Amino acid sequence: MELLLRLAAVALVAAAFVAADGTGTLSPSFYDATCPGLQPAVRRGVAQAVKKEARMGASLLRLFFHDCFVQGCDASILLDDTANFTGEKSAAPNANSLRGYEVIDAIKAEVEASCKATVSCADIVALAARDAVNLLGGPSWPVLLGRRDALMTTKAAAEDSLPSPTSRLPQLLHSFSKKGLNARDLVALSGAHSVGMAHCSNFREHVYKDTKINMTYAAQLRAKVCPFVGGDDNLAPLELQKPDKFDNGFFNDVITGQVLLRTDQELLGSSGSHGTTDALVREYAANADRFAAEFAMAMIKLGNMAVQDGEVRLNCRRPN
Ligand code: HEM
Repeated sequence: MELLLRLAAVALVAAAFVAADGTGTLSPSFYDATCPGLQPAVRRGVAQAVKKEARMGASLLRLFFHDCFVQGCDASILLDDTANFTGEKSAAPNANSLRGYEVIDAIKAEVEASCKATVSCADIVALAARDAVNLLGGPSWPVLLGRRDALMTTKAAAEDSLPSPTSRLPQLLHSFSKKGLNARDLVALSGAHSVGMAHCSNFREHVYKDTKINMTYAAQLRAKVCPFVGGDDNLAPLELQKPDKFDNGFFNDVITGQVLLRTDQELLGSSGSHGTTDALVREYAANADRFAAEFAMAMIKLGNMAVQDGEVRLNCRRPN
């Protein structure tokens, strides 16, 4: 019952965003007349990819976050580097780490075949993230559509906007608030780390230097996955119990000090006025439905920022 009420709230939040962005262009029914097969096509494409490799669901979710955090959800992340352009793919948080580009290409090709020059790459990324979460066992939500694809971006924009895994809580709160996201959104969205993997290079500092970590867990990671020198590309799951299932288990890992990223551990026990995140971690650990509903709401907020001018790219990797 609570979940139903909250999902009704999600729909209301969605409706509010249509009005709030002032453009009136975003709507869940944006392509109903021009491309009725869009949503089933995206779901099929994501389902195929997740069936082949469950982690791809996590990768598609992260792709959406990294797209939206840099000049809004405009598929700027998908632009390939060229001889005279270096884009977001080469930025430190993305290079050798962000995945899922080929899955978006395949879905786009299918969508173009039936709805030529109609659906933006940015909308495909937003739908794919929603379907990925849902196919991994998480919630679903109405995705507002009608975004345009960016004509330009820079590597520097990605490096400036994306949070580093060694940030402290005040920095995290600041970087989210610059995007209109509050502490509740930060904690709920961090629950995305319920799925997927991280490279040793991104958690070495946490497992060797931090005291805010369960020492047995840290010792295992040091011995098996992340040597002090070398092994940068070795992978470990972001959630301990079920890294292929989208659930609230991640928050228990935060409580027991068994998360890979320092930023995730920062959500609990970081002193001062930011203590509010402690209560949220405990709330989401105790209540799976609440986490699912608030994650969905935060994803809608994330997905609706900074809708800008642009185009419907024919090939997601380059401007028309
Ligand atoms: C709060 C700030 C965040 C930081 C500092 C952060 C950082 C990271 C890092 C360092 C990785 C591992 C990358 C690698 O080693 O290859 C990662 C993975 C991941 N992140 Fe985040 N992240 C944050 C928030 C988010 C949000 C808001 C989402 C989605 C809503 C998200 C979704 C994911 C997913 C699903 C993965 C696993 C990807 C895969 O396995 O391919 N993250 N994140």
